[in-house]
Amino acid sequence: MPNCRWKAFLLLGAFLFTLTTLLYAHYYVLDFLFHDGDLQQRPLVNRSAFQEQDETVKKVEIEAGPCTLRQTVEADGKLRQRFNFTVPVFLWAEHFSPTEWQRLQRDFPPYGWKGLPKEVVNSTLHLLNETTNKGLFADGWDGDCIRCAVVGNGGILNGSKQGKAIDGHDLVFRLNGAVTKGFEEDVGTKISFYGFTTNTMKNSLIAYRKFGFERVPQQQGLQYIFIPSDIRDYVMLNSAIQGVPVPLGHDQWDIPSKYFGPNPSSKNFKMLHPDFLQYIKDRFLRSRLLQMYDHLYMPTTGALMLFTALHTCDQVTAYGFITDNYRDFSDHYYDVVKKPLIFYANHDMQLEAQLWKRLASLRVLQLYTREAPVPVPRTY
Ligand SMILES: *[C@@H]1O[C@H](CO)[C@@H](O)[C@H](O)[C@H]1NC(C)=O
Ligand SMILES: *[C@@H]1O[C@H](CO)[C@@H](O)[C@H](O)[C@H]1NC(C)=O
Ligand SMILES: *[C@@H]1O[C@H](CO)[C@@H](O)[C@H](O)[C@H]1NC(C)=O
Ligand SMILES: *[C@@H]1O[C@H](CO)[C@@H](O)[C@H](O)[C@H]1NC(C)=O
Ligand SMILES: *[C@@H]1O[C@H](CO)[C@@H](O)[C@H](O)[C@H]1NC(C)=O
Repeated sequence: MPNCRWKAFLLLGAFLFTLTTLLYAHYYVLDFLFHDGDLQQRPLVNRSAFQEQDETVKKVEIEAGPCTLRQTVEADGKLRQRFNFTVPVFLWAEHFSPTEWQRLQRDFPPYGWKGLPKEVVNSTLHLLNETTNKGLFADGWDGDCIRCAVVGNGGILNGSKQGKAIDGHDLVFRLNGAVTKGFEEDVGTKISFYGFTTNTMKNSLIAYRKFGFERVPQQQGLQYIFIPSDIRDYVMLNSAIQGVPVPLGHDQWDIPSKYFGPNPSSKNFKMLHPDFLQYIKDRFLRSRLLQMYDHLYMPTTGALMLFTALHTCDQVTAYGFITDNYRDFSDHYYDVVKKPLIFYANHDMQLEAQLWKRLASLRVLQLYTREAPVPVPRTY
């Protein structure tokens, strides 16, 4: 029956096409991160260096990369092509000008200012004119090597006993549902920077309240890092600095002081530059999800904080970030029962996992990894 054969032929064709597409997509991701055979592979960080710290040791003594990580990047041709330390990390007053306004019309947030009202961007940026808005510190740093820990919320930290090691860093970045109460031994308490989008911050307060995330961290001297993912972030930041209720939009009448404390000053806030997000996406996290979810896709909050640290600190250790064996751990360290990590179309966690592993093997950063906890055998 020729008709039937014809159908079978079509089906086979469709199958082969799908297979090719899948293989191509797979190859594309691998190619992006691993297709540099001339790179000399260095071993991953020695895991035993991450073991519990001596009580008396204040500073972490992990087998750290050289200080600074910029030297590591400079010494390696491929890394040098990826990293660009002159891309502005933070957005502040000087970045508002007619030419910048025009140039950033190319993309919607988080990669540009398309669709945003000019007055909102202008007035928000005008409020960011302190030295602390432009870089990590007001008056520079007197140490010779700034060592930073970036703490993701991954289940790998449950039972990790990394609290002291984390707090031993000069600066600690945390993000979204950063519960510390009850998990001090595993994740520490120190917090220098808290990173979020208005949306992820408010969602975390709702979703993780039952796990102890009752309010946004408000320690003395803490600095907030806004990710400019939406007009909501510009408007919330503007209202927070001015100490007024949010005048318009999705968060209208929201009181910023309930998140950032009663008297925050402009010095307590930073906002990432849309160019920085664009650069991270293009150079490091050009996900194949972009082909289908262009308008949705962005790197995770954790990825953006990790890259912020990589572009501002001298040495960076990533804790609670996704690793190869993520299936062995719960989604978050504060989950009471194990919950699998779920992948959504707006982020590419698999690509991020490969990237952290790659950057760790090249000693640009240190990545906290560990074996799955051994299940306690049941006794009957
Ligand atoms: C890892 O570090 C420990 C202690 O610092 C050392 O005894 C061990 O030999 C190291 N292992 C490797 C593979 O380097
Ligand atoms: C690095 O970034 C700066 C600022 O965006 C840009 O002017 C420069 O061309 C970039 N350099 C490279 C090598 O990409
Ligand atoms: C920022 O502050 C400097 C110094 O105080 C001032 O000269 C400049 O005009 C300010 N820029 C904006 C955009 O407000
Ligand atoms: C931006 O805001 C400042 C201060 O609020 C104002 O003086 C200036 O005219 C505004 N510029 C534009 C182009 O709207
Ligand atoms: C995480 O740790 C707590 C106590 O530290 C424990 O009760 C809880 O079951 C752990 N969660 C998972 C998913 O292992």
